[in-house]
Amino acid sequence: MRAVDIIMKKRGNPSSPQGESLSREEIEFLVNGYVRGDIPDYQVSSWLMAVYFNGMSFAETGILTDCMLNSGERIDLSGITGPFVDKHSTGGVGDKISLPIAPIVAACGVRVPMMSGRALGHTGGTLDKLESISGYRTSLSVPEFRTFLEKTGFAMTGQTKEIVPADRLLYAMRDVTGTVESIPLITASILSKKVAEGSDSLVFDVKCGSGAFMKSLPDAQLLAESLVGTAREMGKKAIALITNMNEPLGNAVGNFLEIEESMDVLDGHGPKDVTELTLALGAWMTVLGGKAANFDEGMEQCQAAVQSGRAMELFMENVALQGGDVEKLKRDRGTRRSPHHTEIRATQSGVITKIEAFTVGLAGVHLGVGRNRTDEAVCPDAGMIFKHRLGDRVEKNDLLLDVFSRDEAGLENAKNLLTKAVHYGNAAPKTLPIILGEITKL
Ligand code: URA
Repeated sequence: MRAVDIIMKKRGNPSSPQGESLSREEIEFLVNGYVRGDIPDYQVSSWLMAVYFNGMSFAETGILTDCMLNSGERIDLSGITGPFVDKHSTGGVGDKISLPIAPIVAACGVRVPMMSGRALGHTGGTLDKLESISGYRTSLSVPEFRTFLEKTGFAMTGQTKEIVPADRLLYAMRDVTGTVESIPLITASILSKKVAEGSDSLVFDVKCGSGAFMKSLPDAQLLAESLVGTAREMGKKAIALITNMNEPLGNAVGNFLEIEESMDVLDGHGPKDVTELTLALGAWMTVLGGKAANFDEGMEQCQAAVQSGRAMELFMENVALQGGDVEKLKRDRGTRRSPHHTEIRATQSGVITKIEAFTVGLAGVHLGVGRNRTDEAVCPDAGMIFKHRLGDRVEKNDLLLDVFSRDEAGLENAKNLLTKAVHYGNAAPKTLPIILGEITKL
């Protein structure tokens, strides 16, 4: 078998541009060959582009998920009392929900074994955010993961050389080759991690809109069906919420900046949209875990976990367990900002009618929140803080955004993008609810 023949089969040709379905042997050959280092990056990126354009059948997606899952070990959670429930987002701008939701749901008695990813395309990554806490480690061994999960009720890790190494490599390659926005590739990436981590049940947050990989509701619905359908085929209980990602979530976009905002949610004074979505997804996690009889009961439990301070206590316990410096985190809160700073001010008076999440995410990459190359490090202290949100009335020259960059060049590029990302009008914009759709029938 040769990689080039598999690429050409999926790519098709001018008289048959849709390509052909690949067999299990062919998908296995590519995935295993890439993980072993036998197939080079350039062939895999070419194959990813063929999949991006020609897609994969439901059966191929299942096989790809399986091959990625089998590229490494699975985490064995036997001996630890469940239920084990996780949540995964398909990626957004300012989407920090994983950070507050894990301790909130753990405080409700549901264990959350969470395997997350890094920044992808214009979207942020939970691992990059967590690593912005001084000392925090996200590459856990299986025994460490089990111990932390048992002690605090949740643990946060990433793909490693041992666990779903195929996703670790493919994810990094997709990030820089323009091949992220693909339903089968997203499905296989997410589910290989979620099955490897050992959760019994999954809640998917399928983002929809300018800042999401799925821009339209029909596409988001297809991705939600693919995730829920494949998860159920793999023996998991699963539901999905389709949520609005036309504007960034919350006021902060960045790595450490989003840790700060997550702590605000845990303190009970986070931005309304982040808090509402965290509690809604958390409520579903408690329902799937059998701790709440219905959504409303789950919501009450999650709210109580915040109000009692228990969720924040668990967050801090986890930071300490995973190597983070808790005292430094407390001191850093509200102070750690990249030195290259600028302000974006309103170019006219009026009502803010749109804040393009995609453009904001792209500006974040220029600032150092994400990567342009697989070997690039992110900048923990880069990002931006919104002082005004959609629907706010502003006067010309009012401060809209504080922007912090890794370097001057990034700051300049981001400034140009961010100035264009904000639109003004005379009348209040039509606002969408945070939850646009759901697949919640179990
Ligand atoms: N999250 C993932 O883990 N993978 C994707 O492809 C997109 C979002």
